[in-house]
This record gives sequence, structure tokens and C-alpha cells, in this order.
Amino acid sequence: MDNGPIWLDKAIFYEIYPQSFYDTNADGIGDINGITRKLDYIKDLGCTALWLNPCFQSPFGDAGYDVEDYYTVAPRYGTNEDLVNLFQEAHRRDMHVLLDLVPGHTAVTHPWFRESMKAEKNEYTDRYIWTDSVWAEPQEMGCIRGISDRDGSCAVNFFSHQPSLNYGFYRPAPDCKWQQAMDAEGPLATREALKDIMRFWLKAGCDGFRVDMAGSLVKHDEEGKGTIALWQDIRQFLDKEFPKAAMVSEWGEPDKSLVGGFHMDFLLHFGPSHYNDLFRCDEPYFSRRGKGSAKEFVAAYRENYEKVGDRGLICIPSGNHDMDRLARRLDPEEMKISFAFLLSMPGAPFIYYGDEIGMRYVENLVSVEGGYGRTGSRSPMQWNKGLNAGFSSACKEKLYIPQDESEDRPNAESQSADICSLRSEVKRLIAFRQKHPALQSRGSITFLQDGCPLVYERTSGSQRIRVVINPSREGAAIPDTSGAILYKVGNAAEIRDNTLHIAGGTAVFVEK
Ligand code: NOJ
Repeated sequence: MDNGPIWLDKAIFYEIYPQSFYDTNADGIGDINGITRKLDYIKDLGCTALWLNPCFQSPFGDAGYDVEDYYTVAPRYGTNEDLVNLFQEAHRRDMHVLLDLVPGHTAVTHPWFRESMKAEKNEYTDRYIWTDSVWAEPQEMGCIRGISDRDGSCAVNFFSHQPSLNYGFYRPAPDCKWQQAMDAEGPLATREALKDIMRFWLKAGCDGFRVDMAGSLVKHDEEGKGTIALWQDIRQFLDKEFPKAAMVSEWGEPDKSLVGGFHMDFLLHFGPSHYNDLFRCDEPYFSRRGKGSAKEFVAAYRENYEKVGDRGLICIPSGNHDMDRLARRLDPEEMKISFAFLLSMPGAPFIYYGDEIGMRYVENLVSVEGGYGRTGSRSPMQWNKGLNAGFSSACKEKLYIPQDESEDRPNAESQSADICSLRSEVKRLIAFRQKHPALQSRGSITFLQDGCPLVYERTSGSQRIRVVINPSREGAAIPDTSGAILYKVGNAAEIRDNTLHIAGGTAVFVEK
């Protein structure tokens, strides 16, 4: 595989949770046309691409990660034409759009599942993982049982209303005839159905996919070998028919996903990445208290980076719809330093909508659409000081999720007008990154110090930039540092006698 679409070299993604972004028809819920209307805002920030959370027809038991029809935009968001229009408007601005592909499960209301529940054999009998008796449970997977004429239990993938699509078992147990091999007819048909969905949206103009739970498709596949092989097959299909399509996986193991043919993988809040140590624990590294540590994060990152080489990109998100907002643990000044880090690491950065203004986690909400503790990170975008923070002209009670009620809730308009705001800092940091190839997706990284400050060098060709990130309130001196300070976030910094003297709460970029 080559290294993927060239635009990924400079890509900065903006993740949009469609129901909470911008409501153009006053029903209290965001829509596709709302995203189109706000493209200029996203472009102004400096982002070059979007990832949209699922926007397809769904009973919304898991906010759309329970798809009922992969081919139709959910009416509450608009129409397929609206989505195609969004693709076109994005392309006119030289931006790209990734859709969210949910290959591992559907909603129980999906017609495939309804057919597969029937006792008589049909085209969809093997579309999901069913045992051959209602008394037999698929081990370690959880199941739905007792709701069909079919005598069997159906494995589930996440919530118990999300039946697992059948891509087969890496090593089917000989005494469990219902466990099918990856190359059995049913699993292969599921795989082809997945390609059809991808084909449909790529032909309609989307630029690729973020793939939900990409590492979990083949069952009893502890080392991921079956799932990797499956994605390699999909890569061949894409190389042949849609070589420009960009693919990012929710997998969290780049040494596997990138071998499978993904261009990018996320470092996530689950798995061994220690990502949470930086932003989301009792003593996050980016707090000025200076009690947290980045050591384990750096060790895990290095290991992944060495394993992966130039195979693809390891992407670090500011947050996403599944984790707490950055602002739950960090204040705006601390978030500025966090963004100096996020926007100077290799891989394509992903900014979760609203993180650029430090939107807060809304505490004590009743769960909405399977959000549970995640609901507080999914509240409607705060655009201005007007009604419903400019998100919607519906009455407040109709909003998809209640908003942050605080008087001083951040909003995009005020922050855009204030050069000292978090948004202005994020915008400047993006512009700075985009001017320096060493800081972009493929520039290499060498860590020089993993304590506080964190010091690393990014290089591309003859350009070498030393990045010093000092989140704690204590100042520090970094020896053997010469050159020009190109950019600084936070407080004072100067180079004297080959030493960088950096104040607390400061990040600097030094060109060698
Ligand atoms: C990961 C998604 O990000 C999450 O929101 C969803 O609930 C699960 N996968 C199940 O699809």
C-alpha cells in the first residue's frame, strides 16, 4: 500500500456530532444543512476535513451507532441530497468529509436482522452470528435471545440491541458448528454487503470513512490476524475502485490497523495508550499542578511509532463523543498548552467540535440516546450569546441535549473576536503547523525528555523544530537548545547561553 491520499499530509480533522452542531429547521436537533452552513467557520479555524458521526436512519438507541438503513440519511438530519450537497460544498472549499461506517453491528430494526430472525432459511440467515439453539450462548460476547421464531441466540457487539454482523471466526471451535469460518458463504456475503455500502457513499462524493470498532469484526481472533486479513481485502477493493478514499480506524493498535490497510488509527482512551494520563485523570499531565506524568504515554507512543514506521498515521484526538470534554479537568490556559502538544505531534490531529472553545462537560444530565456518562460531552455547540447559544431557534425544552447553563459558557463568536481566547490560540497553532512541514502529519519525531517539560524534535527534510511543552507552573531550563524561538504559547521564554529558559505554563517551538 502507498501512504494514502496526499491530503492527509496536511489534514486537520474536525469531528462533528451532527445532532448537536447546528439546527437549521428549529426542531431542536442539528442537521446536515447546519453543518454545510458552518463550513466557513471550520475552514476559518484551519481544519481541512470533517468526520461526521453516523447520520443514517436509526432507532437511535446508541445515537446512530445502531444503523437501520446504511443507505439513507436519517430524516431528522435531512436527505441524501443534503449530504451530497455537503460533500460538494466541502470540496469547493478544498475540504474533505469522512462518514462514520459501522460495520460490526446494526440496529435490531435493520431489515437484515428482521429477516435473520425468521425460522425459515433465507438470504440473511447467516448475516449475523447466531447459535444453533436458543439454549446455547455465544461465549464472551453477550447475546439477544428469546425474541425470534428462529431457534438460536444472536451475539451482540456492544449494547444488547446491537446484533453482531457475521464476518466469521478466525478459528471456529470444531464442536460449535454455528461458528462459521471467515471464508464461508455467509461471512463473505456480509463482507460484500459492506463493500456495497462503501461504494455507494464514495460514489456519492464522500472522501472516506472513520470505521467504528474496526478491530472487532472477526471473532475468536485474539491477535487480530483474521480482522487484519479482512481489512486487507477491503484495501484491495479500495485501491482498485477508490484509491483516493481515506480510512481511519477506531482500533487503538496501529501496528495492526495500519497493516490492515488503514491510513490512520486513533490513540484512544481505552487500550494501553496512556492517553488519559495526559488529559483525563485525577492528575493530568497538562494540569499546572505538575503532578501528572507523560512517561508512560511517551513509552507507549514510542513503541507504536517504532512498530509502525511510515506505514500510516497515529492520530491523537482532542476528545470525542465517547470521552469527557478536555475542559472537565483543564482550564483554558492549560488547554492552550494541550493544543500546542496536540497540534505539534505527528499524525493528523482531530479536534472534537467545541473543544476549540473549551466547551464544558455538562454535569448531571439524564442519558440521551444511549449516551449515559457520555451525554455531557455531546451537548449542542455554543455559537454565540443568543438564544440557545445560537444552536437552534427551537424552545429550550426541545433541544436534543440540555446546554451548559453557566453565565460564562464559552461561545465561538466571542472567542473568534478575542485574540487571547482559546479558539484564537488553536487557530494560530494550526496556521503555524501548516507553515512548517516538520510539524505536519509525516514529519518524524524524536523524544528528548519525557518529564516536565516534555521535549521533542520534529524534522522534515532540512527543517528541524524543537518543541518544549511545560504545563506545570514551575519554570525550567533546557540545556543544549539554540536557534530562534519561532512561536510561543503562554508565558515567557528566552534562549541564553545555549539554554532555553521557559516559564511555567508555556510551550515553545525553536527552529534549529
Ligand atoms: C464506538 C463509538 O464511538 C461509540 O459511540 C459507540 O457507542 C460504539 N462504538 C458502538 O458502536
